Amino acid sequence: MAKPRILSGIQTTGDMHLGNYLGAIRNWVELQHSHDCFLFMADLHAITVPHDPKTLAENTIKIAATYIACGIDPAQSTIFVQSQLPEHSELAWIFNCITPLGWLERMIQFKEKAVKQGDNVSVGLMDYPVLQAADILLYEPDSVPVGEDQKQHLELTRDIAARLNFQFGSEDKPILKIPEPMIRKAGARIMSLTDGTKKMSKSDPSAQSRIDLTDDPQVIIKKIKRAKTDPERGLEFDNPQRPECHNLLGLYQLLSNQTKAAVAAECKDMGWGQFKPLLAETTVEALRPIQAKYQALISDRTYLQQVLAEGKEKAQAVARPTLDKVKAAVGFYVL
Ligand code: AMP
Ligand code: TRP
Repeated sequence: MAKPRILSGIQTTGDMHLGNYLGAIRNWVELQHSHDCFLFMADLHAITVPHDPKTLAENTIKIAATYIACGIDPAQSTIFVQSQLPEHSELAWIFNCITPLGWLERMIQFKEKAVKQGDNVSVGLMDYPVLQAADILLYEPDSVPVGEDQKQHLELTRDIAARLNFQFGSEDKPILKIPEPMIRKAGARIMSLTDGTKKMSKSDPSAQSRIDLTDDPQVIIKKIKRAKTDPERGLEFDNPQRPECHNLLGLYQLLSNQTKAAVAAECKDMGWGQFKPLLAETTVEALRPIQAKYQALISDRTYLQQVLAEGKEKAQAVARPTLDKVKAAVGFYVL
């Protein structure tokens, strides 16, 4: 029997951080044994806000190297660049024409990002979730593993698929498969080191707020030392008055591969002076092998090129027939 399929991607804006690793890539690594994985670099999404053309391609390659360094195996999984497959933009256009504007106006991520852009909000930024729906539905995945923040986009994706099926398909023969979101509890939301109520994010102007996967040990130690805490003694999960405490314990749990109960027991009598060096060392050691592999990969451009060329071909073999199916259903002239 064929393995169930998953698809996911990361936008090629800025450097990858612990939130991306623990909330996304690490789950994919686990899933790749039991699932057929399609993983891509969302560079079309990266230009929905003003971007620097000098770093776009380099960011794409860096993310590809990060996927592989974190344990995605190109022999098992398909790794590809979104902009290299015109199918994504083409299906997004068709979806544009069946998606009510009101659905997009409700998107939380759009509202948050639009505020930051002031008067300079592009149509592309509003259309971002429609392109994401195309990314997903082209590959007919069973599920889509993402962080909690992407839940609304996945609901929209399901709504778009259902609408297309309703308008152009028949009940016994749906055109597009409707995928399930896959959102893990642990790691779903890694918070900022400077504010335990805010998500760790590439776009936070403060580098102190996040740990990048390429930060060297001294930097990691310093960032954890300066991470916001509270004056209480004894550390605990799930106290809403102590969001930083919950977040840092969660990081320790994930990076040391322990259960929540084990960490809660280990840390319940600790003070920050004891816990922070422990977390720093655990983080440095967890990232060490990833960083070594990343350095080797990023200097082997020939290999990365080859992975992406093969990925493109494998991806297109799935995406093309889906697009053709949709075009035929919508009624386009077929040669
Ligand atoms: P982004 O960096 O926003 O393009 O996100 C790429 C992937 O990482 C998505 O699946 C996100 O849900 C996930 N992600 C990003 N930031 C975090 C975070 N702070 N905690 C958990 N997952 C995250
Ligand atoms: N919007 C996603 C994010 O910011 C990235 C993304 C683009 C994506 N297309 C996707 C994730 C398709 C999953 C599936 O994280």
